[in-house]
Amino acid sequence: MEQPELLGTQLFDLTGSVALVTGAGRGLGRTMALALAAAGADVVVSARTASEIEALAAEVRGLGRRAAAFTCDVTDEASCTALVDGAVAEMGRIDILVNNAGINVRKPVLDLGFDEYQRVLATNLHGYFLCAKAAGAHMVAQGSGKVINISSIMGRVALAGQGAYASSKGAIEQLTKVLAIEWARANVQVNAIGPTYFETELTRPLFEDPERKDFISERTPMGRWGQPHELAGAVIFLASRASDYVTGHTLIVDGGWTAW
Ligand SMILES: NC(=O)c1ccc[n+]([C@@H]2O[C@H](COP(=O)([O-])OP(=O)(O)OC[C@H]3O[C@@H](n4cnc5c(N)ncnc54)[C@H](OP(=O)(O)O)[C@@H]3O)[C@@H](O)[C@H]2O)c1
Repeated sequence: MEQPELLGTQLFDLTGSVALVTGAGRGLGRTMALALAAAGADVVVSARTASEIEALAAEVRGLGRRAAAFTCDVTDEASCTALVDGAVAEMGRIDILVNNAGINVRKPVLDLGFDEYQRVLATNLHGYFLCAKAAGAHMVAQGSGKVINISSIMGRVALAGQGAYASSKGAIEQLTKVLAIEWARANVQVNAIGPTYFETELTRPLFEDPERKDFISERTPMGRWGQPHELAGAVIFLASRASDYVTGHTLIVDGGWTAW
C-alpha cells in the first residue's frame, strides 16, 4: 500500500496513535510509556498495582496526552481480554502494544521449583501471547498496528541461574517471528527489543551486589549498565512509521554485550 512520503522527525511522530503498555507501573515499562507519550501517543498503562499506574497516567496527562490506567494480571486470559477491551472502549483503538510485564526467579535449575519455573513462563511468555492475541485481533481488523515484545539479551545468550527467564525470552523471539509472519499482510508489524542490564526493581539483587554489578559492567563492551531512557529510541522507532517495513526483528540494546 502506497503511503505519503514522510521526512525527518515526522517519521517518529506518534500523534493520534494509542499505545498500550503492560508492566508500566515502574521500571522499563514506565520509562517506555512516558517516551511514547513524549513522541505524541495517547497511552493506556497497565500492571497489577493500581496506585503506580494511576500515578503514571496522571504524568502522561501532564504531557498533554490522553491516558487510562487498567489493572491486569497478564497470567490470566480473562484479565488480558478485559484489558484490551477496556482500552479500546476508552480510547477507541489500539495502535501499539508494548508487551513488557515480566519477572525473574534466578536460581540454578536444580534448585528451581517447577512452580517458580511455571510462574516465570506464565508471566513472561504466556502473558505476551495472551495480550498479543487480544490486541492483535483489533489491529488485524483495523489493518494497522505495531506489537513490541520486550525480550532480553537472555533470549540470545545465557548465564547460570536463568533457566526459566532465558527460556521465556528465547521463546518470545520465536513468538515474535511467527506473529510477524501471520499478521504481515494485515499491515501489523511485530518486533522485539532485547535489552541488556538496566537498573530497575527486577535487577536490584544484582546492582546491590558489588561483585555482580561489576561483572556486568566489565562484561559489557561499553563498560556500564544501560539507563532506562536509553530504550526510548528503540521503542519509538518500532512504534512509529519509521519501522513500517521492519517485522519479525529483535532490536538488541546492550552496549555491545552480544557482539562478543
Ligand atoms: N531491567 C533489566 O535489566 C531488563 C533487561 C532485559 C529485559 N528486561 C525486561 O523488561 C521488562 C520490564 O522489566 P523491569 O526491569 O522494568 O521490571 P520491574 O521494574 O520489576 O517492573 C515489572 C513490571 O511488570 C509488572 N508485572 C509483573 N508481573 C505482572 C503480572 N503478572 N501482570 C501484570 N503486570 C505484571 C509489575 O507491576 P505489578 O507488580 O504491579 O504487576 C511492574 O510494573 C521485563 O519483561 C523484563 O524481562 C529487563
